[in-house]
Amino acid sequence: MNLDELNGIAKKMVAKGRGILAADESSGTIKKRFDAIGVENTEDNRRDYREFLFRSSAMKDHISGVILFDETIRQKAKDGTPLVKLIQDAGSIPGIKVDAGAKPLAGSPGETVTEGLDGLRERFVEYHKLGARFAKWRAVIDIADGIPTYNCVNANAQALARYAALAQENGIVPIVEPEILMDGAHDIATCERVTGWVLETTFSQLFYAGVRPEGMILKPNMIVPGKKCAKQNSIAEVAEATVRVLKRHVPSSVPGIAFLSGGQSDEDATAHLSAINAIGNLPWAVTFSYGRALQAAPQKAWSGKAENVAKAQAAFGHRARMNGLAATGAWSKANEAA
Ligand code: 13P
Repeated sequence: MNLDELNGIAKKMVAKGRGILAADESSGTIKKRFDAIGVENTEDNRRDYREFLFRSSAMKDHISGVILFDETIRQKAKDGTPLVKLIQDAGSIPGIKVDAGAKPLAGSPGETVTEGLDGLRERFVEYHKLGARFAKWRAVIDIADGIPTYNCVNANAQALARYAALAQENGIVPIVEPEILMDGAHDIATCERVTGWVLETTFSQLFYAGVRPEGMILKPNMIVPGKKCAKQNSIAEVAEATVRVLKRHVPSSVPGIAFLSGGQSDEDATAHLSAINAIGNLPWAVTFSYGRALQAAPQKAWSGKAENVAKAQAAFGHRARMNGLAATGAWSKANEAA
């Protein structure tokens, strides 16, 4: 393992005012997004959509890296240029989602464990050749009556650790993503307690697996109440709870934390990130690795029509700029109108 090289890549992924575009929707997930805007889920449409994102001017200024799906890392733009090259030409780093999705966990009804470890070493060798310098693995933890269980938290943390060790062995920075879903009716204190538990378990498994914190990026959820909880908290409360949990459980040797948006509104995801950074004095760089909160607006503006591409690129550029500001703690609502 060349830790200096991994550390250099990780630092670039969280460079000041820049963050990660999570464009790694599986064919099933992108179908859901396309269905919502009346676009047929064909290989060409997926290519056209991602091509205009990667060609947009916002990439250079605000997007440090792009997480790709297996199909996309092999795909070429309409003019034959590999999509990976478009990303590299914009000064951004290509990354790859390597997990095979969350599957029902035996013995734990209602819970999942993320699969995809078989053959992963060989896949990393190939992805590195294709240009990937970082990867993503997402564990999914739900909160409801009696869950998460010890079994679920432990199984997911072990899988994350085995994935991350294989990534580092192959010169690829692992994004370690233990996502606690915000779908439930739980309050913010429950999210804080479960997130603390999951992070503590994950970093302990990473340690046992020999993963070096200097060569990874953490992609956590923010500390928010479930969407169905009657009490929704202020931006400041979310920021304070999030910083408290991260300071308790994330080693300061981790170069960066890049949040998922998880179903927050576009503006909440930006406001929370800015408030977290505004607290200041954080030992890690803190930025975004958003899927929906960066792409919902351009998807809607595009709606599958070539004549809407410039408008869609502008919508993407706006969210990328807003989140770039938030990554330095400098966003305010007034910026949204600018
Ligand atoms: P969201 O920002 O839409 O949660 O997606 C980020 C991601 O990569 C989830 O794995």
